[in-house]
Amino acid sequence: MQFPERGTTVRALSKELMRIRCFAALLLLSCSPSAPAEAPPPATPAAVEPAAVAAVAEPVFVPVDRGGRLFDKWWAELKLEFVPDNPKTPEADGKGGPFDDGTLPDIAGKPIKNPGHDYRLKNLFGWDLRGAEGIYGAGYQGKSYVATTNLLREDFEEAELVHRLTRGYLNWPAYGKVLPPEAISEIAAFVMAVREGRAARPDEIWKLSAGTPKNYVLNDGADVAAGHDIIAKQCSGCHGEDGTAKGLEGGKYSLGSFGRTHAYELWFKLLAGQPKTPMHGQLPKNADGKAQSQSALDIIAALCDRTRYPQGKASKDDAPTGDVRCAKY
Ligand code: HEC
Repeated sequence: MQFPERGTTVRALSKELMRIRCFAALLLLSCSPSAPAEAPPPATPAAVEPAAVAAVAEPVFVPVDRGGRLFDKWWAELKLEFVPDNPKTPEADGKGGPFDDGTLPDIAGKPIKNPGHDYRLKNLFGWDLRGAEGIYGAGYQGKSYVATTNLLREDFEEAELVHRLTRGYLNWPAYGKVLPPEAISEIAAFVMAVREGRAARPDEIWKLSAGTPKNYVLNDGADVAAGHDIIAKQCSGCHGEDGTAKGLEGGKYSLGSFGRTHAYELWFKLLAGQPKTPMHGQLPKNADGKAQSQSALDIIAALCDRTRYPQGKASKDDAPTGDVRCAKY
């Protein structure tokens, strides 16, 4: 015999599962808008067996690219009035923040004068999230303000990361004083996805290398033809077929020259996009981290082709032919 409440629960559950599946399917761009809003009620009570419920609890992709953009220029992405304190002047002379002078407090509530990191997490931890062990560490680009924590190695939980980002920790500012809790959660989710390999990881795309310009070298294993294909399909609409339609970084780089000299940064931009611009994450959203890393490596290796993606009118030097950063590409 069936209890009336039981049927109701089943319908509610099926509806919820339908919603989740539809959401997952939407991300794959295959969800028909005419999908039935309500699943037909299950024919037999067997459908409510816990095993049946567990079987449909498929992983649902959670987009993390927004957390990555907040890891970079959070004020630009959130359109907040914030001008970081000028690190070159002795006084605190920025705008916005809890002291309205472009500084943020430390864990004790005291203002941290900008040592040059502009309160951006990408500066504290580097574009590879590895802090002092990574690209901004003493062994490589040697930024004085780099944080000691390697976000990809430390084994603290996501909740602990949220806590540290909110309250401040060591030389980390208390971001809770300027960012809403949702933004901090998005940043933490981004970091955890990269750490756990659910999103692209820097070590799957390039290697740290003390003796080479900018201290990195691209990994082997790129499919250059696949990279050209992605660029033609995904980038050329905004950046032009040869990547010179937009001067990047205020006219200093073309897509090609940026890729050839800044792979350690470009992988991040491909994963997260560029704050406050229409450029969002460019890696396949329904793929696992390995497939995302492969896609990023393919794109960056393809950009090593200086004939196809020239420097154009960009004002900064390109990497010379045969530059080690491009490895064999
Ligand atoms: C919807 C348009 C759009 C798409 C698609 C797009 N971009 Fe962008 N991209 C932009 C804009 C806008 C900027 C900011 C340019 C500026 O700073 O003036 C930008 C910036 C960049 C930068 C410079 C980042 C920096 O630090 O200054 C790189 C590199 C880049 N894009 C690479 C790519 C690649 C590679 C693809 C394809 C996989 C791509 N973009 C797809 C619009 C786009």
